[in-house]
Amino acid sequence: MMTVVMYAVSPRMAYHFSECVESHAFSTYDKFLNAQGEELKKLPARDVAVKYYTGDDLYLFDEFQTSRPPQSRRPKIRNLYDVFFNIRDDEAEHCNTMTA
Ligand SMILES: [Fe+2]
Repeated sequence: MMTVVMYAVSPRMAYHFSECVESHAFSTYDKFLNAQGEELKKLPARDVAVKYYTGDDLYLFDEFQTSRPPQSRRPKIRNLYDVFFNIRDDEAEHCNTMTA
């Protein structure tokens, strides 16, 4: 709702706000990985995450990797650390996409 109001006032301001949200998401996941990384490495990845990052149909995954060629990013998901590592990198991709 807040972004809608911002957009009504200034589309540029709303876009910048969204860029800040993506950047904050990256930073938050990065801090989480640094703080809890060793524990996360001992925990298994959820099936849904393994399927999302390594499944047979990665068309939508590639569609959102706008700052790199399709099929050039193929994460390994061995544990919960890898899941959050890749979620963090997804946020970086969102930042790159918005910058582009
Ligand atoms: Fe995002």
